[in-house]
Amino acid sequence: MGYPPRMYELIKAVEATRQRRYDERHPRLSPEGKQQLLEKFHPDYRPDTMRPVKVGVSRGTVMPHELVDVLESWSRLDPEKFPLDKIDYDVDVLIIGGGGAGASAALMANENGADVLLATKLRLGDANTMMAQGGIQAADKPNDSPTLHYLDVMGGGGFANKPELVRALVQDAPLVIKWLEDLGCMFDKEPDGTMTTQHGGGTCRKRMHAARDYSGAEIMRTLRDEVKNREIPVLEFSPAVELLSDGEGTCTGAVLMNLETREFLIVRAKTVVVSTGGFGRLHIADFPTTNHYGATADGLVMVYRLGGRLVFLDATQFHPTGAAYPEQIVGLLITEKVRGLGAQLVNIHGEQFVYPLETRDAVSSAIIRECVERKKGIVTETGQYGVWLDSPMIEQIHGEGTILRSLPAMYRQYARFGIDMRKTPILVFPTLHYQNGGVDIRDDTSVTTVENLFVAGETSGGVHGRNRLMGNSLLDVVVFGRRAGVAAARKARHVESGHLSLAHVSDYHKELEDAGLPKDRISPILLPSYTRHQAVPGANPAV
Ligand code: FUM
Repeated sequence: MGYPPRMYELIKAVEATRQRRYDERHPRLSPEGKQQLLEKFHPDYRPDTMRPVKVGVSRGTVMPHELVDVLESWSRLDPEKFPLDKIDYDVDVLIIGGGGAGASAALMANENGADVLLATKLRLGDANTMMAQGGIQAADKPNDSPTLHYLDVMGGGGFANKPELVRALVQDAPLVIKWLEDLGCMFDKEPDGTMTTQHGGGTCRKRMHAARDYSGAEIMRTLRDEVKNREIPVLEFSPAVELLSDGEGTCTGAVLMNLETREFLIVRAKTVVVSTGGFGRLHIADFPTTNHYGATADGLVMVYRLGGRLVFLDATQFHPTGAAYPEQIVGLLITEKVRGLGAQLVNIHGEQFVYPLETRDAVSSAIIRECVERKKGIVTETGQYGVWLDSPMIEQIHGEGTILRSLPAMYRQYARFGIDMRKTPILVFPTLHYQNGGVDIRDDTSVTTVENLFVAGETSGGVHGRNRLMGNSLLDVVVFGRRAGVAAARKARHVESGHLSLAHVSDYHKELEDAGLPKDRISPILLPSYTRHQAVPGANPAV
């Protein structure tokens, strides 16, 4: 299939400037220039994308409409009538979510002597972790240090990050790489056996460890195999639909739903870890997404009803390089590693318009500006905007064979559609990638406002401030997943199994009623509905 003839014509402008651009380094943005760019073009700053939530502990806080909609919704359970007398599982630690954070938590809780149950919406490993491509950051090279990593994370997050969480992230990072390797994770290595590392946007050192561009899949494979090896009980196709409390606000378990039979299962647990991922499938601001189907903010909804405070949810990450062509893959991730290897972003005239490794919020905003204000983007036959990512430069810089060796997943993604990214550039536009904020936690992942409840991974907020850097998400899920497992297991040793109640849901319903909110909305939604949202929403969400 390839590109239509008109696009091959346009590609000639990219080819014509490639040699000149080879030595050209686009100037970096000044802090003031970056702020102005964000305020004018980043979707977070668009007044039509957010509103304050009317109920709950973070009442009055501004968040995206799509998230507010699921927070201002009724439970799937009638809290006055739902029977809680028959307990199906009675465990020390219940882990909700089967991605990288949940699996890491399960392993560490098991290692710390807890009787663990892991419940997950789909299959173990069906999560954003599995889909992550570029890599995982850790400062474990002689020219690097956790301090430098700390400064990069803070800078990327606009210095809004919670410092104790950032400290935990960067301090545990080298240990996490070693732990994963010891479990069998196959990271890329140099011929002398040292780890291959690369730059990501906003990093002052090359500290991105990868398994080609299947990094998340390799990490998830490793964690999943280990959960299975240790015979940790896993309930698949069993999402949690509500947390349980003792009636005084302390978490005591959860209600799960068997997706096949629609039966509810009651789990009593001394401590609970929520690691259900983020809100990508809510299609914030109508953008397409890189995210897994399960990313429907379930954890945020359940924890919020039990009193968990939410932070930084007005900051959404739009990854600069989502596929903009062909139509079948619009919104899917084109890993930042492509830019890390030297591919430049260029407009319809073959000109660079941004330093390709600025932080993601800035690069996304620059692409939107190029298309919307400067009218120098490319418009596809279906009206989708994009700019070129000049992938053939990678082979020019690093030699023939680099793309097949370092980006096999990317190569295959395009080859399926007759596009050879070694020879022709690819068309990209920002796509919804990550929930920067989430539940407010301490550095042991305990929820600041709810007892015996822990949150790890994308469901939590604070570590990345207002903008996460590449490779810190795979790191986050393993660092804080491990911490959650340890903390939840240790806490469970001193906790008596509690009374089971949905009183907090009754209270929440009362708040919804008092606020006069419509009664037809139910959450967690569990799976996205594509009768309302198209896979390619509105083609040009920036406009
Ligand atoms: O671009 C990427 O490979 C994405 C990585 C990340 O979000 O950490």
